[in-house]
Amino acid sequence: AELKERIKRLLKERNAVLVAHYYVDAELQDLAEETGGCVSDSLEMARFGRDHPAQTLVVAGVRFMGESAKILSPEKTILMPDLDATCSLDLGCPADEFAAFCDQHPDRTVVVYANTSAAVKARADWMVTSSIGLDIVKHLHEQGKKILWAPDRHLGSWIQKQTGADMLLWQGSCLVHDEFKGIELDLLRTEHPDAKVLVHPESPSNVVAQADVVGSTTQLINAAVNLPATTFIVATDNGILHKMRAAAPGKHFIEAPTAGNSATCKSCAHCPWMAMNGLKNLAEVLESGANEVHVDPEIGRQAKRAIDRMLDFAA
Ligand code: MLT
Repeated sequence: AELKERIKRLLKERNAVLVAHYYVDAELQDLAEETGGCVSDSLEMARFGRDHPAQTLVVAGVRFMGESAKILSPEKTILMPDLDATCSLDLGCPADEFAAFCDQHPDRTVVVYANTSAAVKARADWMVTSSIGLDIVKHLHEQGKKILWAPDRHLGSWIQKQTGADMLLWQGSCLVHDEFKGIELDLLRTEHPDAKVLVHPESPSNVVAQADVVGSTTQLINAAVNLPATTFIVATDNGILHKMRAAAPGKHFIEAPTAGNSATCKSCAHCPWMAMNGLKNLAEVLESGANEVHVDPEIGRQAKRAIDRMLDFAA
């Protein structure tokens, strides 16, 4: 409690606001809400940070989220509790290899997922997040565009199936979602025949195929609130359960099975990098001003075009 009070005081002193992702620890999510910040997905985090008058944004999430905040608000100070909090999708798509891939396919419109470095975004025509990727690809497909998609292959192939678009896929994946298991999910469903299955599209296709709703974190939370069911099986990072339980009280949420589900691993579906964000390192960076996110200004300007396209489309 003392730590929380200290953070609240420091946020005020620094004219800072806390922007947190649904996948970080519950106490950080609560603190963001209590202090007038936001808890959301990467699309809304980017928008909120851009539009908020605070001079400093403290991003509790992973590296690319801090970079996107900096790209959209170069004049603001962006701090992160731990700058080593990265993302397997980002790591799996190095900018030089990606540029070579794009060079080989100059006829394709380059669409990248938010979960990439600033340098990869700088090479893209569009950036999308999971909540809007389907709509944007549909729009591009209707215009007759052929697409080069990176980096998540599961999300890419799900969008490809939904839209029929011509998509060339980079072969990345999220280490959390990649672990959800189709056969085990099928068994769990037989134990809970009335449960609705909520699946994030970064999951493998045999998991997505069993979903009642496929969607981004925000879309899955809305489904938990709105669907007339009392039990849900949830295939995404289990950090989301905090918000789901708060938004849909009285409903029952079960984590979808992963390869690691066993007595020794109670919560396997949790991003190790999201877990690097805590109250302690948050308080420390607010005190010291350390861990500032920097993006090369020229790369940032180029990356911003791809992000702005998405934000304009969403508006
Ligand atoms: C994001 O966009 O924040 C992540 O892809 C998770 C999600 O919201 O679906």
